[in-house]
Amino acid sequence: MRFGVCYYPEHWPEARWAEDARWLNAIGISIVRMAEFAWSRMEPEEARFDFGWLDRAVELFAREGFQIVLGTPTAAPPVWLSKNYPSTLPVDEQGRRRNIGGRRHYCPNNPAYRTHTQRIVQAMADRYGQHPSVIGWQIDNEFGGGSTARCYCPVCEQHFRGWLERRYGSVRALNEAWGTVFWSAEFDDWSQVGAPILGLATPNPSHVLDYYRFSSDAVVDYERFQVDRLRSSISSHQFVTHNFMGLYVHLNYFDLAGPLDFVTWDSYPTGNLHRWREMLYGPDKPEADYAWDVGDPMVTGFAHALTRGLRREESDSKPFWVMEQGAGHINWGAVNHLIRPGTPRLWAWHAAASGADAIVYFRERAARYAQEQYHSGLQRHDGSPDVGYFDQQRLWAEHTSLDGLTTEPPRAEVALMWNYDDLWALGLQPHTPAFTYLRHLFVYFRALQRLGLPVDIVAPNSPLNSYKLLITPSAHLGDAGLANKLKDFVRKGGALVMGVRSGFKTMSNTVTHQPLPGVFRELMQATVADWGALPAGVSYQIESSVPGLSGTANTWIEALVTPPEAEGARVMATYLDGPYAGKAAMTSNAIGKGRAWYVGWLPTVEQAMAIIQHRIQRVNVVRLAELPPGLIAALRGTSLVLMNFTDAPLSATTQGRAVTVPGRDVVVTHYH
Ligand code: GAL
Ligand code: ZN
Repeated sequence: MRFGVCYYPEHWPEARWAEDARWLNAIGISIVRMAEFAWSRMEPEEARFDFGWLDRAVELFAREGFQIVLGTPTAAPPVWLSKNYPSTLPVDEQGRRRNIGGRRHYCPNNPAYRTHTQRIVQAMADRYGQHPSVIGWQIDNEFGGGSTARCYCPVCEQHFRGWLERRYGSVRALNEAWGTVFWSAEFDDWSQVGAPILGLATPNPSHVLDYYRFSSDAVVDYERFQVDRLRSSISSHQFVTHNFMGLYVHLNYFDLAGPLDFVTWDSYPTGNLHRWREMLYGPDKPEADYAWDVGDPMVTGFAHALTRGLRREESDSKPFWVMEQGAGHINWGAVNHLIRPGTPRLWAWHAAASGADAIVYFRERAARYAQEQYHSGLQRHDGSPDVGYFDQQRLWAEHTSLDGLTTEPPRAEVALMWNYDDLWALGLQPHTPAFTYLRHLFVYFRALQRLGLPVDIVAPNSPLNSYKLLITPSAHLGDAGLANKLKDFVRKGGALVMGVRSGFKTMSNTVTHQPLPGVFRELMQATVADWGALPAGVSYQIESSVPGLSGTANTWIEALVTPPEAEGARVMATYLDGPYAGKAAMTSNAIGKGRAWYVGWLPTVEQAMAIIQHRIQRVNVVRLAELPPGLIAALRGTSLVLMNFTDAPLSATTQGRAVTVPGRDVVVTHYH
């Protein structure tokens, strides 16, 4: 396990750097990330570079034995650049050209911005690309941060037309794919097609989904532009990565991970909590009374799991890093409460147990000026140690057990499919605010965590051979490719669980002409005869022979019918009352050596647990432990890590014996 810190030499007098290197060393910090916002210091005027200060910082930390990660500074264009090249500033959804004064104020498609990017990236690569202590590069910083995933400037509109032309070939095909005959929106030629903003009433969801995809592709293209420039100049011992934002939803993170050696993310467990909880729980309550300063481990764990799944080679995911680990209070939450001793340590263990191989703290010392004055660092403004410093001392004292953990990858036999197209399409036409794509995924994620079952998050194009159970909660956009892939998985013996709103749409976000669930109907041997949203407070009874499943259905229900000739199909649950009384609520179908289940309502976590319990028995997947809410289990290699996110001691049963974990603490046991 390696520890690092985000260090900003440009924020402090040079005379202090050596002292900083010493105290960081003393608490086991061996990595420094630098320069990701320092463009104005590296290139104070167009094409005039000043690397003297960075040379000295790099040399000093190299001499002290640190490994250095350099950030390309393109998330913070200097004032001269934006002022001299105003077309590089992005245009927002209101059609307004945005201003300097914050960060990320650039358009990824702008040719002038590409020129400036190329110059600074090349200059940095030439200078540090062979340096033995520079171990890698972080491209830019948090793509999409501060609502910057989509730009609506004329350059982007131009690029969008090219993107559409490549996808559809002709305007006629575009009209067909989007159904523009609706409301007389048919285009006569490409020049009429623009960004889906500033219209009256609502834009066409096919148009918007394509703009989302295009915008995500534009960021990936800009990232690749930097990766290519770096890779052509740097030595092979240096990696290239980017710092992602966990559950941020406006970029296709699988695509963004593609060009990188591995993925990192910025983890602030108390930061996005309010927003993410709202997005993920809906009206549900969190699982447990988590200690008030730990955040929500289900939410943080979901982000760790997604990050780990972003870069996958065959069935093995690559280890990820936490490139920024919050280690005290933050400054951008609704309430930035204090953090108690022991909590940053718990976060570090959670990250490591979830697959992280390095943890880089944000930041070394609290900044005295500008936007982040209230954000903590390992040291306070006056240089005295803050809570993260003391917790890192503790972590360093126990680093051999952490090292043991990071030598082996996490392994899972269960996969949960995550598809950004589905997420976006359902977000554009939610039909009820209570149903969201991620809420549906999160129900299953929580159920798996509660059951002590490790899970990998996979993309629609990920290999599935190593999994025994696959859950595709809402495979909303379907095509024959995905249908065949799932069928293949089941035929070979896999257990599949599919849920509501699957197969409803085509890839261009129009409704399928087939009976539902569209392309998946043959696999399921069931037809969705009727479907609909329920208002809050309305629920109906379901009866099932699956233990623990009978109960209520709310939010979204679908009535299922199995054709009489379907031999392998079975009804697994039935509606007892309401408009679908007597109809099937859940079906199962045998194909080859496996079975596919269709769950016709949005289950509760307990119902999802019942479904999973039943399914894993058939495919022989073993639970790590029996856990009370608040206790999280994770497996890396043969180390089972039990983490208690409450203030009181909690006990788990694993491999036939009870293990007690004190409040906000961790116990590691050998697992075989
Ligand atoms: C991150 C960002 C950092 C810093 C940090 C504060 O999102 O990458 O530069 O702003 O938040 O929490
Ligand atoms: Zn633009």
